[in-house]
Amino acid sequence: MSALLSVSDLCIDVTGSDGPMRAVSDVSFDLAEGEVMGLVGESGSGKTLTCRSVLRLLPRKVAITGGRIELAGHRVTEMTERQLATVRGPVGAMIFQNPTAHLNPVMTIGNQIAEPVRIHEGASRAEARARARDLLVQVGIPDPDSRLDQYPHEFSGGMRQRAMIAAALACRPRLLIADEPTTALDVTVQAQILRLLLDLRDSLGLAIILVTHDLAVVSQTCEKVAVMYAGRIVESGPKPAVLGRPCHPYTEGLVASQPGGGVPGTLLKAIPGQPPGLSDRPPGCAFAPRCPIARSSCESAVPPLESAGPAHRTACPHWSELGAAA
Ligand SMILES: Nc1ncnc2c1ncn2[C@@H]1O[C@H](COP(=O)(O)OP(=O)(O)OP(=O)(O)O)[C@@H](O)[C@H]1O
Ligand SMILES: [Mg+2]
Repeated sequence: MSALLSVSDLCIDVTGSDGPMRAVSDVSFDLAEGEVMGLVGESGSGKTLTCRSVLRLLPRKVAITGGRIELAGHRVTEMTERQLATVRGPVGAMIFQNPTAHLNPVMTIGNQIAEPVRIHEGASRAEARARARDLLVQVGIPDPDSRLDQYPHEFSGGMRQRAMIAAALACRPRLLIADEPTTALDVTVQAQILRLLLDLRDSLGLAIILVTHDLAVVSQTCEKVAVMYAGRIVESGPKPAVLGRPCHPYTEGLVASQPGGGVPGTLLKAIPGQPPGLSDRPPGCAFAPRCPIARSSCESAVPPLESAGPAHRTACPHWSELGAAA
């Protein structure tokens, strides 16, 4: 299967008052058509910047400074804004944690879904409205005819998230990037939205990058996982391997800190300490200060990713010492 998305050695800098700082370093991953990848890691690890880079939707003062991104044959990293406009929507689309911030409060839901169809496909008003209606049905919004003419504030949080998904799907993208799409929702609605994303994957062959803090979500929805720490992918591979037999002490700590993730009957244990800030990332392994198996050699150079099994990669040279690997 050839990759729909290929990210190679991606580096992203953010410019603060002290000049540019590296936020994301040497991130590489591939995603096939119809594949669902979980992207996990603590706050500030670079998940959102990595995702936004795929469609070059980066905020000001944030720039891609290295690497290459190819999406469905488009060299995203080399495209002009005008060329990017033909990719955002019809090839890849993104949804966010907070739909309210990404929906226009003074435009009806129907028009927000229909507008990109008119722009990208030159559809008539009636055709675009019919597509918008179909999309509302597809994302499980009841009573679509009256919902089309409502405004975002007339929708519940879960319905707003469904509407944002409908708008993202309007131009039939092949990749959907979902940045914590369920974090702001209550547990029942969360499960419904995840179910919807998986149904869309099955019915449309959509590839999905799902950013989440919740390993249980990854476990239920993803085929593969990439774990980020301090701007780098520290472990990646098939979900059963990464979550079942973590080969990086950070992933092992994340798994152990999830309810039900550790040994049954034992207390949850959080990973002690904090990840380093952008300005104080160490020269060696950024996890070393919190790592139970670190040694002095870990502090001198960033360990490269190495193979820990089929399609399974870890940035810990000492992974064979981990409990699950024994
Ligand atoms: N617009 C910005 N300006 C300056 N720094 C930024 C900006 N956006 C992100 N950063 C910094 O880049 C780093 C990575 O941020 P990013 O938002 O990608 O993290 P994240 O993994 O998505 O975190 P979270 O789980 O909190 O969403 C963080 O240190 C963050 O403070
Ligand atoms: Mg984020």
